[in-house]
Amino acid sequence: MFRRKFLKSVSLWGRNGASKRRIGHCFQCTALQNTTHHVRSCSQATQQQMKISDPHIFVKNELRHLSNSILNELNTPLEPLKNITQYYFDNKGKLFRPMVILLMAKVCNKHVYGNEERSLSNAQNTVARVAEMIHTASLVHDDIIDLADSRRGKPSTHHIWGEKEAVLAGNYIMSRATIALARLGNVEVIKLLAKVLDDLVKGEFMQMGSREDPNERFTHYLDKTFKKTASLLAYTCRSVALLANGSKELQDLAFQYGKNLGIAFQLVDDVLDFSSSQEVLGKPAAADLRLGLATGPVLFASEEFPEITAFIMRRFKGENDVEETYDLVRKSTGIERTMSLARQHSREATRQLMKLRHSPERDALVELSGNLLKREN
Ligand code: FPP
Ligand code: MG
Repeated sequence: MFRRKFLKSVSLWGRNGASKRRIGHCFQCTALQNTTHHVRSCSQATQQQMKISDPHIFVKNELRHLSNSILNELNTPLEPLKNITQYYFDNKGKLFRPMVILLMAKVCNKHVYGNEERSLSNAQNTVARVAEMIHTASLVHDDIIDLADSRRGKPSTHHIWGEKEAVLAGNYIMSRATIALARLGNVEVIKLLAKVLDDLVKGEFMQMGSREDPNERFTHYLDKTFKKTASLLAYTCRSVALLANGSKELQDLAFQYGKNLGIAFQLVDDVLDFSSSQEVLGKPAAADLRLGLATGPVLFASEEFPEITAFIMRRFKGENDVEETYDLVRKSTGIERTMSLARQHSREATRQLMKLRHSPERDALVELSGNLLKREN
């Protein structure tokens, strides 16, 4: 049964022309199709594939090293600066972004060099570290903009130390990330990560405005979503593919995985604002509306309830705008349609990955793109 299933995969692999070299070998385990080894290892691979519950396990050593190296990077005799900037790097975060980047690096290395055990390069580890630092710096600033008192279950940086200190702390984390990146001396990777910074600022800015023309509103929202959330994953996944000496095709594929995963992630985030509770989210429901933001569920709902448009234009500042919009969104198909869009992006992320050589890390990334649709906070 396994054999029939995987022979079918092989013919698809060949027809798509993804790799002519692989024809005659199994798509899943790369062994010759008619060997006993193939049938046994593939059945094991399938069982393993179904059991992956924690993708962290494939990169746990690298993640431990990453947390320590960030603390080292931020080490300075200037005591307050050191304490403020190290505050969020307390080994309690999910490290979602570096986990994706490190898994992608392993998938790309195995795709290029074969499935033998091979450690990640210093440069690939650095990309994951820099990504987490950029992300954290942006959150320190974001909490000032959003007037958020807490982050990751603890008081936010500016809430403890004050705004001026938090602005400077974000800048310092960014500057240390830039130094680590420059140390690599890889101009291509520097250009890719510079694009992330450009996008982050533009995405945050785009979020502060919305389009008059309802037809442009959704495009603006998706463009903002890419820049604010997906760009970091897209360009860092491309960077680790490049550092694996991957072809242009491999780099594009890694980029597309990161982009689609990032967009799906944000769409789910936007849904949770309407479908989850304060206890689960760690922040009040409808927080985006209170910030004046019209996300996917609201934009879809406004097609069914046109009165929402006026609320969007005044950024929900009218007396009952937030409550009314919240109720209309819950009555509409906005949540369902946003989830459906998230599913499309998650499927596209998976489709890209399935073009690559099989590895446990590839399964972990596939699982991860499905699991993010089920997350509750
Ligand atoms: C969280 O959004 C915010 C971001 C993902 C990016 C914020 C970017 C900036 C503030 C630009 C400055 C950039 C740098 C590099 C210093 P959210 O408010 O939707 O999510 P939340 O609920 O986690 O706060
Ligand atoms: Mg915020």
